Amino acid sequence: MKDTSIAFIGGGNMARSLIGGLIASGSDPTHLWVAEPDAGHRELLRGRFGVHTGADNRDIAVQGQVVVLAVKPQVLRPVAKELADIISARQPLVISIAAGVREPDIRRWLGGAAAIVRAMPNTPALVGSGATALFANDQVSASQRQTAESILRAVGLVVWVAAEGLLDAVTALSGSGPAYFFLLMETLEKIGVRLGLEPEIARLLTIQTAFGAAKMALESPDNAAALRARVTSPGGTTERAISVFQDEQLDVLIAKSLSASLAILETPALLADGLDDLVAKALEAARHRSVELGDLLGGQP
Ligand SMILES: NC(=O)c1ccc[n+]([C@@H]2O[C@H](COP(=O)([O-])OP(=O)(O)OC[C@H]3O[C@@H](n4cnc5c(N)ncnc54)[C@H](OP(=O)(O)O)[C@@H]3O)[C@@H](O)[C@H]2O)c1
Repeated sequence: MKDTSIAFIGGGNMARSLIGGLIASGSDPTHLWVAEPDAGHRELLRGRFGVHTGADNRDIAVQGQVVVLAVKPQVLRPVAKELADIISARQPLVISIAAGVREPDIRRWLGGAAAIVRAMPNTPALVGSGATALFANDQVSASQRQTAESILRAVGLVVWVAAEGLLDAVTALSGSGPAYFFLLMETLEKIGVRLGLEPEIARLLTIQTAFGAAKMALESPDNAAALRARVTSPGGTTERAISVFQDEQLDVLIAKSLSASLAILETPALLADGLDDLVAKALEAARHRSVELGDLLGGQP
């Protein structure tokens, strides 16, 4: 894999993250080629990574055993059509990271018979902590699947889905997912301030709590339900807040939001609508229990 030549078509944010990740995990920059129309971006790519760059997509594509289509979905069609004869003649593995554009369309634009992997990464890939789902068409060999997996693993976790249609569910869950967590963080922060905390303190506590919870979930063999049960002591403050979330059916709200996301493929408004009141109620219940416990336990001689 480290000796595989990879041609990136489009040298924007996602390509740069992948290139940075690949080099950090031992790839030789002289095996990496990037086609990018902007001269300033090409200079930056050469200076930062030592990769080959060029303005002509065809000149770059011929260099790759793997061709990564890293342009915006809107320009994928002309870019793929421009490369069709090269892809047909050289038969590289083609990886498309363009959101939403389906494999049969990409294959048709590329001349009808390419080995194509579609990747659906998410924004945390830009900081090396992405979650990517991959789908391979029938032309992709076992070793090409491994290659695709190694490339995307350079920016985080990789999973495979067996049917291309599942990438829409992936888009609703992990593609749009960072926004759901940001929304919850934003709401926690806001309610924390409403409960009297300094904004900077509420911000730091929220971020570190999100990070700590995600780290525990990643490092523990237990699922989220078990982890939640473990931090919810009977009669404690967390239990009060959790019971508000459960009484108000947070799971129904999230399910509704995810299906809205599936339908329109963008950040759901539904979750934002009810969440503010819900989080305020839950945090107030936990704060109240904290005061109660303090009175109860501290009141003893
Ligand atoms: N960013 C994410 O978090 C994320 C997550 C999931 C999927 N994706 C997918 O990843 C792909 C790339 O996203 P991105 O965020 O990296 O976008 P980006 O930063 O805009 O990168 C796209 C690059 O392609 C270049 N380009 C434009 N037209 C081109 C052409 N005809 N031939 C070659 N290169 C061309 C652009 O150059 P100019 O700037 O000079 O136009 C730009 O450098 C998209 O399809 C997106 O759907 C991104």
